[in-house]
This record gives sequence, C-alpha cells and structure tokens, in this order.
Amino acid sequence: MTDTSHHPRQLERDAQGALRNLLDLREIDRDLLLQLFARAQKQLGSDGHIHHSTELSGRTVGTLFFEDSTRTRSAFELAAKRLGATVLNLDVGRSSTKKGETLRDTLLTLQAMDVDLFVVRHGDSGAAACVAQALAGRAAVLNAGDGWHAHPTQALLDTYTLWAKGVDFTQSTITIVGDILHSRVARSLVQALRILGCPKINLVGPSTLLPPWPAHPEVHTGTDLDAVLPESNVVVALRLQNERMRGPLLPGASEYFTRYGLTQSRLDAAQPGAWVMHPGPINRGVEIDSVVADGPRSLILDQVRHGVVVRMAVMQMILENAA
Ligand code: CP
Repeated sequence: MTDTSHHPRQLERDAQGALRNLLDLREIDRDLLLQLFARAQKQLGSDGHIHHSTELSGRTVGTLFFEDSTRTRSAFELAAKRLGATVLNLDVGRSSTKKGETLRDTLLTLQAMDVDLFVVRHGDSGAAACVAQALAGRAAVLNAGDGWHAHPTQALLDTYTLWAKGVDFTQSTITIVGDILHSRVARSLVQALRILGCPKINLVGPSTLLPPWPAHPEVHTGTDLDAVLPESNVVVALRLQNERMRGPLLPGASEYFTRYGLTQSRLDAAQPGAWVMHPGPINRGVEIDSVVADGPRSLILDQVRHGVVVRMAVMQMILENAA
C-alpha cells in the first residue's frame, strides 16, 4: 500500500471546516480537543457508568482490523453500540481479501451496504489515508492505528485520562519510555501533548529504538531514564514492538528491564504523585513491574475505560457532520 501519510488537508475536513475523518491529530487544535474531552466526560454518569443512548440509531459503523487488537477494537465496538449504531465487524482473516480482493474493492463493497463510518487498523503507515481517499467522502474514516504512523484515538484517550485527573499540561513534564521508534502511540501522543501546551516531553529508550523525528523545542530524546525521572510528572511506558523490529535491536528483555523497566524504586524517584500510563498490551517484567502496573499511581485501566467514552465522543462529532 502506498504511504499517503502526507495526505491533503481535505481528507480531514470538509469545505465548511467540519471534521470528516480522523487520520492523525494534525487537524486538531486545543479547542477541539477540549470539546472532545467535555463530550467524553458527559458519557460517564456521576455513578461512573458509561451512558447508553440512541443518538447514532440508524447509522452503521464498520470495523476493519488487519492487525490484532483487544483494546481498540473492543472499545470502538462498545462505543458504537452504546450510541445505538449497528456494528459490522469484518473478519478480515475470513473475508474475500484472502481471495485477492483489493482493500479498495472491499471498502466499496461494504460502503454499498450503507456503512457510514469505517474504523481501520492496518500494518502499513498511511493505510487510513488510503482508505479515506478510496472512499472519497462516501463514508467517514477513523484511524485505529496504521503502521508506525499514528494512533490518534489512543492519544486522545491518554490525554483525556490525564485531563480527568486534573493534570495541568502546561506545568507538566511527560516522559515516554520504550520503543519510541516503532510507536504510532508515541507519535500521536507527542502531537496531542504539544497541542495542549506541554512544555517538556522526554522520549527515552535504547539508542536503537529512538526516532529520527523532526525536532520540536518541547521534545527531548535520551537514553538515560533515571536522569529524567526526577522531573517527570507522568511516565508512559511503551510496549517493545518485537514484531516491527528488523533484526536484534536489543540485547534481551532482562537487560531492557534493568535499564528501562518501570519499577517502584524508579517511580519513587519521579515527581511526588507522578502518574503511570501504558497503552497496552503490557509485558509485565519487561516494560513495567506488576507492583507498578497494579499500583495506586497506575492509570492503565482508566485508559482502557476512557477508550470507550473518548471514541463515543469522536464518533458523535464525526457523524453529526455527515448527515
Ligand atoms: N493500545 C492498543 O492499541 O491496544 P490494542 O492493540 O489491544 O488495540
């Protein structure tokens, strides 16, 4: 699939400037983020339960997962159902793509059945933009993770989780540790944190897993986690994406844990009250110790829960723009 990650602006917004697709966070500004957070918060009642409504009754959401997923796929499905939409989960592994049907033809086939919005996860960077181009506005597209490129709803739920905890982004140092190079989560989270005015974002990992990204003044890269912990208000651990590594980029999991694993003693060295996050799936004893993952400063399951309400908010916003 061709990389169209430098896609034209009209894939994201319509002629009136309304959000039509969510491919990455390039077209999102602070006001829109805060509107989404407020909408997501409304989906959680005062009793903490997620609301049900019929707001998207009559609309159809199709999920197309060409890569494995637990959190994202389940959260999108639940979010659509909680809003009253019909959900079509294409079982890609048993679909006619196995008989040689192209992605474009699969999309046009499903769109002919009146799918209003496609949620797409794909191993190729730029795949979501290709889907949006193929659909040419006939249905909306939400990127559920494409290659190394972007995972916008993950960044939205991560920042929503911190916002809901009262974190002042403009006064916080956020440290992201792990396999930054292959991480669409890190790319999108950096975008979201910059939009929210975060003054310092540390990207930390072995030099073989650090990215050659364009520099931003807020973003600092380094290999020494212990050096940046004392200034960190939030520590985000990332999964080692072994499936994306070409050749051995690390000596081994135990050496990685020794230098970069998030342990209680490392958390104790961070700012008082520092929060711990991980997008999941977590590898206990590799990226994070169980004591920390299951401890009182961990927001890992809040992130999962917020994945539903944030995706409800995104689907509402996009589908109300697509009458
Ligand atoms: N965080 C995340 O994208 O998890 P899944 O791969 O389980 O969807």
